Amino acid sequence: MRPLLLVLLGLVVGAMGATFALSALRQGTPFHSGVMAVMQYHLGALRANVRAKQCDAKGSAGRLSRMEAMAGDIREAFPGMDTPFYEAAERLRGILDGAAKAPPATCEALTRTLATVGEACQSCHRQYR
Ligand code: HEC
Repeated sequence: MRPLLLVLLGLVVGAMGATFALSALRQGTPFHSGVMAVMQYHLGALRANVRAKQCDAKGSAGRLSRMEAMAGDIREAFPGMDTPFYEAAERLRGILDGAAKAPPATCEALTRTLATVGEACQSCHRQYR
């Protein structure tokens, strides 16, 4: 009797575990939110650097290139969108690529770069978000 009970218990616990795992997968942070969140994070960090007047080119380049990598993932993160959407993503990626390769060396220049980047984010959000 006891072994049978244990087997039944095992089955129930196993089924519950599978259900939890499946719902965790479904509720997990979707890739597209992650891509956006990472870009938002670095944009915020760079803005904070401007406020703190810490605008060294090397530090900015690192963040800008991480944002560029994320922008390059927008296509995969948002499948099935129209061509203008992917063009907007590519425009953002191009701006970030240029900025990461020739990183702004002063806070004034970084402010201008961030304004351009922010505008590229907004122009897509206005239409698609
Ligand atoms: C090509 C279009 C496009 C570009 C460019 C773009 N976004 Fe987005 N973003 C979207 C869309 C679409 C959503 C809505 C996603 C959803 O809610 O399912 C979104 C949502 C977001 C969110 C909310 C994410 C969430 O799910 O909680 C943040 C934050 C964000 N974007 C930040 C940025 C930043 C920062 C940039 C620029 C560096 C940027 N985005 C550039 C299309 C874009």
